[in-house]
Amino acid sequence: MRTPLIAGNWKLFKTLAEAKSLVDELAPLISKVQGVEVVVAPVFTAISTVAAAAEKTLIRVAAQDCYWEEEGAFTGEVSPKLLKDAGCSHVIIGHSERRQYFGETDETVNRKTKAALKAGLVVLLCVGETLAERESNATFSVIKTQVSGGLAGIPAADLAQVVIAYEPVWAIGTGQTASDEQAQEVHAFIRSLVAELYSSLEADALRILYGGSVKPENVKGLMSQADIDGALVGGASLKAESFAGIVRFQG
Ligand code: PGA
Repeated sequence: MRTPLIAGNWKLFKTLAEAKSLVDELAPLISKVQGVEVVVAPVFTAISTVAAAAEKTLIRVAAQDCYWEEEGAFTGEVSPKLLKDAGCSHVIIGHSERRQYFGETDETVNRKTKAALKAGLVVLLCVGETLAERESNATFSVIKTQVSGGLAGIPAADLAQVVIAYEPVWAIGTGQTASDEQAQEVHAFIRSLVAELYSSLEADALRILYGGSVKPENVKGLMSQADIDGALVGGASLKAESFAGIVRFQG
């Protein structure tokens, strides 16, 4: 059995005060939820504030990125070790916005993933095709390159600390969610790919999240698919009410 995971990616939003009040509002709305892991990813500067606010709740904290070196002369970067120190248990790596705007490649995603795993963080590794790639029937080859590139050299024993997030770029922030069937098709493909790269044991245990315009209204359908184990939520995670509605997808 794979424990569902609902993660909120706050992107470049929320001051310290806003981040704290979002946690304070969210916590009571989801306090009765059982058997679901809940993660929120604030900006770097709000991590310790959010971690402190979330301490007695089931909410865990993720960073939105990390660097692969532990320390050194790398101005502007933050290492997995420091993220842990600030209160993170998870880190998002390879989000399409980082690939699109900040030169993230499968190679940097792979280096960051290895470093984060070494530091003991759970990695939410993002993959997803653009609209042009989908329209030219390149979805599966793009996903295959991103998944195998991101996981290159990662031993089977570490895979339990990896969660893959399938986020079609055309569905992010557009209101245009992939249909349940479109998402399921790619999730099943990712699971079969991981079975090839590792074994069916690792593949069956791997959690694969869907991301891209997830809302309280569409989460149930997505979560009812065999290979969808959770959601990575952007816009709808910025308000306690809507994020709680997604976390409570079972009821
Ligand atoms: P969205 O973002 O839910 O606003 O589409 C998802 C994401 O970027 O992780």
